[in-house]
Amino acid sequence: MIELSQGKILVIGAGIMGTGIAQVAAQTGHQVALFDAKEGANLKAIESLTKSLENLVSRGKMSPELMQTTLQNIRPIQELSDAKDVVLVIEAIVEKLDVKRALFQQLETVVSEQCILATNTSSISVTAIANGLKRPQQLVGMHFFNPVPVMKLVEVVSGLQTDPEVANAIFTLSQAWSKVPVHTKSTPGFIVNRIARPFYAEALGMLQEQVASPFEIDSCLKSAGFKMGPCELMDLIGHDTNFSVTSSVYEANFYDKRFTPSLIQKELVDGGLLGRKSGRGFYDYSADAVKPSI
Ligand code: NAI
Repeated sequence: MIELSQGKILVIGAGIMGTGIAQVAAQTGHQVALFDAKEGANLKAIESLTKSLENLVSRGKMSPELMQTTLQNIRPIQELSDAKDVVLVIEAIVEKLDVKRALFQQLETVVSEQCILATNTSSISVTAIANGLKRPQQLVGMHFFNPVPVMKLVEVVSGLQTDPEVANAIFTLSQAWSKVPVHTKSTPGFIVNRIARPFYAEALGMLQEQVASPFEIDSCLKSAGFKMGPCELMDLIGHDTNFSVTSSVYEANFYDKRFTPSLIQKELVDGGLLGRKSGRGFYDYSADAVKPSI
């Protein structure tokens, strides 16, 4: 059995997901190296993580000791070669097959042969990312949900060449992180995103037809018992990521109409209205009170 419980971890991509993954790993006692291709992005992520942990401490939701340990366990690194001795890499970079492939091929030259390579991809085939790797059996999907510290589910995604022992090790590690893992095969969108895509698509279709506003759609869904409406959820995910996921699932399903991306998504991305992370999407997050944006 592959043992990961004490090992050092490298998280690549210090965006929404990478920062959350680094927090959860560090909180559970792992030494975490945090890398991002964009200069200073990992430092910025640690700065914003510090603020959010301070907020948790001030509201009595986290002990000051746990905050200190968590932050001490995260080390920003400037070069991938600064994290040679890790047992696990978790990649949370842009949702693009060629970029992920290139990164994992580079990683194989840096980390040990035993190191597990995990991708947080939302939709891209794990089998396809592994194509071209020297050790495709070491690659597995470890799909967290947003926000990572809160959401319990982790989809453990096996591609055609993933070693079952590798998938089992990720399953066990997820449990140790108090998550609820589920094994799944690498199919377009895996389990949750396959079902969630038509949910977003229907909302986007209604917006296109001007049936209702984002606020009205979200309010209706919440009144019907959903925790969040589709428009605020897309703002939380980030429209750039969400559009890439929709496009990838559409393509992987041989352009099945049910998964057609929306012009509205594309317009939001082209306009830089990426949702919460850019301050504006369907809603405007720039002021204290969130208000409808379009
Ligand atoms: P993000 O846009 O917030 O962060 C991505 C980070 O990766 C950025 O800081 C960027 O500078 C960095 N990056 C891009 N290319 C890189 C490279 N070649 N090497 C190193 N760093 C690089 O994106 P987010 O939302 O964190 O998504 C990351 C991954 O997680 C994607 O694959 C996405 O599909 C997946 N995911 C996203 C969820 C969400 O709700 N946003 C939920 C579950 C999975």
